[in-house]
Amino acid sequence: MPKFTHHIFVCCHRRESGDTRGCCDPQGNEELRRLLKAELDQRGLEPLVRASKTGCLEQCELGPTIVIYPQEIWYGGVQPKDVPRIIEETIIRGKVIPELVIGDEQLNKK
Ligand code: FES
Repeated sequence: MPKFTHHIFVCCHRRESGDTRGCCDPQGNEELRRLLKAELDQRGLEPLVRASKTGCLEQCELGPTIVIYPQEIWYGGVQPKDVPRIIEETIIRGKVIPELVIGDEQLNKK
């Protein structure tokens, strides 16, 4: 099996409502991951592009959060409506979506 061209890690961490840190998947339904996988499947991009569930990526305040490796592209505030654009612009065309980027200056800041 060839290496993945992109591996999208999707935070599906859930905390109880009222937790001050919030979380990326308050409904606990993994909607973003499911939508990403469906879009990849529809476009025939699997298995070279993969979307995997992950726990907290420690960017909770900026979530919902995904990170794409090996490109090291962090996106925050990702909504279901953003999924087709992420696949089209970032995965297929290699362009970063500026309004979703979590910049290096924001990463790992509490
Ligand atoms: S809960 Fe998603 S980054 Fe922490």
